[in-house]
Amino acid sequence: MTLMRVKSVEQSIRDAEAPEFRLRRVLRAVDLLGIGIGAIIGTGIFVLTGVAAATDAGPGIAISFVISGIACGLAALCYAEFASVVPVAGSAYTFSYASLGEFLAWIIGWDLILEFVIGASTVSVGWSQYFDHALSALGVHLPGALTAAPGAGGMVDIPAAVIALLLTVVLVVGIRLSSSVTNVIVAIKLAVVLFFIIFGAFFVSTANWVPFIPPHQPPAPGGTGTGLNQPLVDAIFGNSGSFGLSGLVAGAALVFFAYIGFDIVASGAEETRRPQRDMPIGILGSLAICSVLYVLVSLVMTGIVKYPGLNTAAPMATAFQAIGAPWAVGLVSIGAICGLTTVILILMLGQARVGFAMSRDGLLPTWFAKVHPRFRTPYRITVITGVVVAIIAALTPINVLAEMTNIGTLFAFVLVSAGVLVLRRARPDLPRAFRVPWVPVIPVLAVLACLYLMLNLEGWTWVRFGVWMVIGLLVYALYSRRNSRLGRGESIEQTAEEL
Ligand code: ALA
Repeated sequence: MTLMRVKSVEQSIRDAEAPEFRLRRVLRAVDLLGIGIGAIIGTGIFVLTGVAAATDAGPGIAISFVISGIACGLAALCYAEFASVVPVAGSAYTFSYASLGEFLAWIIGWDLILEFVIGASTVSVGWSQYFDHALSALGVHLPGALTAAPGAGGMVDIPAAVIALLLTVVLVVGIRLSSSVTNVIVAIKLAVVLFFIIFGAFFVSTANWVPFIPPHQPPAPGGTGTGLNQPLVDAIFGNSGSFGLSGLVAGAALVFFAYIGFDIVASGAEETRRPQRDMPIGILGSLAICSVLYVLVSLVMTGIVKYPGLNTAAPMATAFQAIGAPWAVGLVSIGAICGLTTVILILMLGQARVGFAMSRDGLLPTWFAKVHPRFRTPYRITVITGVVVAIIAALTPINVLAEMTNIGTLFAFVLVSAGVLVLRRARPDLPRAFRVPWVPVIPVLAVLACLYLMLNLEGWTWVRFGVWMVIGLLVYALYSRRNSRLGRGESIEQTAEEL
């Protein structure tokens, strides 16, 4: 049955060794931690925390972070096992090709494109918001129409598009540059987040934490919280409105965005020196560090400003404005701008790598997979990614983008976690440098937790996700199924000759 054809783990590793498609093995465990933290801390904590506190969870947003962090931790264990078995580019896509079959691998790959492209667009918009904020602080006011998307009170978000295009150039030049730039910027970002927590702690007023979980409120007629503008689970079970316990979970589904990125560490497996040992360190380590920081940041933020006041474009800056420390506002803005830059960079890198792996397999046109003769980077897919990210970022509001990214990523996590179970049964013989403990309990819990968060995303997000997946099915049926290198029995050398 063609839908179930499986690319063997051995073949996946062999393909990655073919000289025409070989990437450089330069990354160490500490680089992976850098990539992880660099990818994880971004728009989620710098922007969405404020929105989620103001509209969903109040100070309870700290609990939302814990809920989301647990779901991610469960999925991260599964990711780590997969990445340690199949250490080649393409992340969950490659893993599932080796375990769940071509069709599910396609679905997951298509889904990862959603995560990375829309995720990079989301963070570009967050970047633009802090950039605008920083310029205004310096007395330079950009016209509102040119710094926000049509649904967000503007016409086109030019800074968001420009940053995406600039970073595309960096990526084409090569991963060595990207990872060293990343390490410096990650250090600045971490310093700023720690500064926010430590300095901000002095200005926390515990009265702002009361009530910690604001009481549930019914929706305003026709506004958010009705029809498809509410979490799917509320639309189904009729528990509409905001705040309360359901608000905590809705908040968790939104701030889930803040954790996205640990999975991207896995997509660098082919460029890692000792993937079997270093991958689990990179994935689990970066997730653990970020979870602690997020809970602390959200407690400090909601402790400085009462939660309704946090629905702003740059809530960390808002908090420091509230305590009258303009120099701290500047510092946080600069840190956010640097920090968000690495996130965009890494998300686009992830997309380029998945697109590269899918093209190398013939599921997307092989033309995309050409590696640059000098830079050894998949430059064609990188440029296309950058242009698409720029266009989407320029024209779409941030909350729409964040929810779309979340649903795509959560679905990928569901498939990866299920994939661990399948691979344990199908190929118990493969060496696994990292093994998920308590199988099947952990993978099953990971699937359930991610599905539950998905159900807490808006009805419209589900509609958009459905449309994206239907397009994916059509592309698979009309193109990928026939052109699959595995299906055609073509060797990696033959594919290379075609380029
Ligand atoms: N986790 C990343 C962010 O918050 C994607 O921006």
